[in-house]
Amino acid sequence: METIGVLGGTGPAGLALGKRFAKLGHRVTIGSRDQSRAIEKVSEVCAEYGDLEGSILGGSNEEAAMCDIVVVATPWDGAESTVRALKASLDGKVVISMVNALLKVGPSLHPYLPPRGSITAQLQAALPGSKVVGAFHHAPAKELGEIHENLDCDIMVVSDNKDAREQVVALVDRVPGARGVDAGTNVSAGAIESMTAVLININIKYKTRSSIRLSGLEK
Ligand SMILES: NC(=O)c1ccc[n+]([C@@H]2O[C@H](COP(=O)([O-])OP(=O)(O)OC[C@H]3O[C@@H](n4cnc5c(N)ncnc54)[C@H](OP(=O)(O)O)[C@@H]3O)[C@@H](O)[C@H]2O)c1
Repeated sequence: METIGVLGGTGPAGLALGKRFAKLGHRVTIGSRDQSRAIEKVSEVCAEYGDLEGSILGGSNEEAAMCDIVVVATPWDGAESTVRALKASLDGKVVISMVNALLKVGPSLHPYLPPRGSITAQLQAALPGSKVVGAFHHAPAKELGEIHENLDCDIMVVSDNKDAREQVVALVDRVPGARGVDAGTNVSAGAIESMTAVLININIKYKTRSSIRLSGLEK
């Protein structure tokens, strides 16, 4: 089974996804700019979920980038510089971006569209030798991290590389409750990333954590 590294894995989103993958049986490295922070976070995870002991490790972002599949879970304004610094290790690999570009304007969140139309496309341009895949943008960190519960949402997966897209759809399908949906090339990534702002504004209004389920889709 592939090893999975998470860049910026000490935040709620990356840590939660790392726990999910470890629960599936992958060996996961939670990466950080400060290795000691990742080790501390992982020890907290293992104290709560003893069954993950040995499957999830804390390390540097450099160590996480050595894994077979690498997730980018940093804030959007740090994502490109983070992957550029690790370009050699990421070459040839599937790199999953769960990054959403959001700006706080007054009380609400607005989507920010970078010049290439999405963070997924921006990271693909920065990593021409990697297979960048956008996924998990709409999965709330709290539910993602509740690894003994089903994850009740669809995960739209985009990439310009069809094989990588299908590989990540299959990975999502192994998460209990989740459904991977092939959403096509990076042309769709901007709309998917922007939708997160809509969901968060809905969540603020209704004091909840909504996600997305597509109707009329049999798979
Ligand atoms: N939170 C959610 O529910 C959720 C759900 C789906 C997707 N996302 C997306 O996933 C990403 C991570 O979300 P999050 O809430 O976990 O974010 P976060 O807590 O703000 O950041 C995650 C980690 O990134 C590292 N980091 C912070 N600033 C950085 C910079 N300038 N350059 C490089 N690394 C930096 C930090 O780790 P170290 O200091 O240890 O390096 C931090 O713990 C975001 O892009 C978000 O839009 C979030």
